[in-house]
Amino acid sequence: MILALHKLARCRCLSIASLTTTATDPADAWDATLDPTRAFFSFSEKAAAELATFLAAQPVLDGLTEVRAVEFIPARAGDLPAFAAEARAMVDRLVLAGPRFAVAHPTPGLSLQQQLAVPWLLANLLGDTLVQNETGDRFYIITDRGGRMEEGARYSQTRQGGSFHTDGVNLKEGYDYFLLSCIAPAAHGGESVLLNGSAVHHALQHRAPEALPILQRDFVWEYKGIQSGRYYHEPILKMVDGQPRWRYLRDYLEEAARQQDAPLDAGAVTAMDQLDAVLDDAALQFRHTLHAGETVIINDRQIFHGRTPFEDHPGAVDLECHLAATSETPLKRTYSRFWVNA
Ligand SMILES: [Fe+2]
Repeated sequence: MILALHKLARCRCLSIASLTTTATDPADAWDATLDPTRAFFSFSEKAAAELATFLAAQPVLDGLTEVRAVEFIPARAGDLPAFAAEARAMVDRLVLAGPRFAVAHPTPGLSLQQQLAVPWLLANLLGDTLVQNETGDRFYIITDRGGRMEEGARYSQTRQGGSFHTDGVNLKEGYDYFLLSCIAPAAHGGESVLLNGSAVHHALQHRAPEALPILQRDFVWEYKGIQSGRYYHEPILKMVDGQPRWRYLRDYLEEAARQQDAPLDAGAVTAMDQLDAVLDDAALQFRHTLHAGETVIINDRQIFHGRTPFEDHPGAVDLECHLAATSETPLKRTYSRFWVNA
């Protein structure tokens, strides 16, 4: 994978040279040529052994069939001192600074059930985990439930790709970062795509500067999936201490406008078209396919993300069916997600 990315980067380096050399803050902005090893993180053997011992002592993981039960596992730094300290250092170095995201490698030797609990512990050691739907789930499963966004489904419950976005659109307050952990990859596709918010802002300054003041107007957003039918106002782009902070998921914006009977004006549509054109620029997109057990921690206000469309194995089943099955059944592409406020 690393070799493939480097090869890709070499092919694109000429076309993006002007971008990288004129970025507002070269230390902050990156594009498709980002060296993935800058974002990779492995816990030490000491932290991994501490984690394995802790997980082996969690009775809720024995015969686990209901993933929400993982939420009953307490996450206290005192129980996992080395793991907690390394997690904090990882976020300080890679998520709040540096590339603004980290890819934590799996801890070897864990069962599927134990691995499910790792991002839950990580998220809770890093801050407060937030409720992600009307049923109060903090441990949220991303998988294809057969719907489409055009029909009102949440992006996370489809197999659609594109629609590059930030996650913190369902809550006015947003959140600092979120975790995506791969439980099982897709049969085909489902590559993660990340874009740096500073590089996107910089590209817009050059390609469509007239879009920037429009994106800084207030837009109507729904507390979609959290408190349906309730709305709030926030801009797509905020400048904070000279740095861009983003909130964007176009399908949700358009849906909220329809529900409120307040159509987006032509200027807003054009500005979003211009933003989408930048987000669709492959020269800005860092791509990585997460392997089972890998967790990506993303600074939600400074990174856009999305994925390529995907296909599951024929006959693949949901995680709960897979955990309950007595025989080996293929698992759908399944990720867990955690929204975290530091
Ligand atoms: Fe997302």
